[in-house]
Amino acid sequence: MGRAQRVVLAYSGGVDTSVCIPYLKEEWGVKEVITLAADLGQGEELGPIQQKALQCGAVESLVEDATETFIKDYAFLAIQANALYENRYPLSTALARPLIAKLLVEAAEKCGADAVAHGCTGKGNDQVRFDVGIMALNPNLKVLAPAREWGMSREETIAYGERFGIQSPVKKSSPYSIDRNILGRSIEAGILEDPMTEPPEEVYAMTKAIADTPNEPEYVEIGFERGIPVSINGEAFNPVALIAKLNDIAGKHGVGRIDMIENRVVGIKSREIYETPALLVLIDAHRDLESLTLTADVTQYKRGIEQTYSELIYRGLWYSPLKEALDAFIGKTQERVSGSVRIKLFKGNANIVGRQSPNSIYTPDLSTYGAEDQFDHKAAEGFIYIWGLPTKVWAQNHRLGAK
Ligand code: ARG
Repeated sequence: MGRAQRVVLAYSGGVDTSVCIPYLKEEWGVKEVITLAADLGQGEELGPIQQKALQCGAVESLVEDATETFIKDYAFLAIQANALYENRYPLSTALARPLIAKLLVEAAEKCGADAVAHGCTGKGNDQVRFDVGIMALNPNLKVLAPAREWGMSREETIAYGERFGIQSPVKKSSPYSIDRNILGRSIEAGILEDPMTEPPEEVYAMTKAIADTPNEPEYVEIGFERGIPVSINGEAFNPVALIAKLNDIAGKHGVGRIDMIENRVVGIKSREIYETPALLVLIDAHRDLESLTLTADVTQYKRGIEQTYSELIYRGLWYSPLKEALDAFIGKTQERVSGSVRIKLFKGNANIVGRQSPNSIYTPDLSTYGAEDQFDHKAAEGFIYIWGLPTKVWAQNHRLGAK
């Protein structure tokens, strides 16, 4: 029988996804497992991972370099949306999942597979993002999630793997669960599960401790074209290089750490540590440039859209009609969001200290308190009379009624 014949498995090279290979074959009767590892700029060599998959029994091991697509088609949309889940988390892990889902579906279609598989457990958000993303892209593909069903502890998983020649992790594996890509690192578990425990310095890799940051501030100027970051200090960068460079600059000043309790899709709270230096700086700078170039009503209306957009990314609805509709709105608003923003990085802070745009609708003659003032002060009186009229009528009536 078997649950599927030919399966494309999302593969990271870790114990869990490695054990998925023999497990799918032995326990679930899958004939052929093809693994797919996505390079999203996690700074890890994927060659050895490819080898490892074959040793674990995969018939074929694919590696896809998708870093540029990740930035251009996923991260940049999130930046244009100023997407922060629960106002804090810039979705660095969440954004990677729909892209991996897409790569899995494309590979399955190319290889004639009847199912795709992933190693997520039943407690996290990532299973939701994979499953829903895959069903949106190809509702006919089966999705297999062995780790959601096998019920093995960490030790049992390692022991199971050893039966099939999968080496247990050489060094004592990290007590944390870490996800990483070019946008950032997400760290959870171990002592971090106590929400009152301060994360030890060892959990961080992209950002410096304040004690080790430079004693002089550094200024960076980010250039945007239609809501997309294109330059640093006047020098043009391609998307991947821009993120990498800004991660370095901001990380060096200790910028980009987040320690939060978040609400997962599956109804539980979790304590997560993030470091996302470039992404946080870019969202802040982008939001600021919007305040210079968009009208008040568009700016304010967009805030609500941004919250919905962040939630749909977090909840696995990247490929959805709502996301497409919101993209149309956001895309329209970005037509004039060009210019540059100046940021001062110092001791864990990234403060915006200047902004300019050829499309600026900030009008000095109207805003100034100096002699050049063009604002018609007298007009304010009539405006306030009409604006305040309902309040005045209500107050008069209220006072009478209160007697
Ligand atoms: N909580 C984050 C999210 O749902 C990150 C989860 C990533 N996994 C990890 N091992 N920390 O997007």
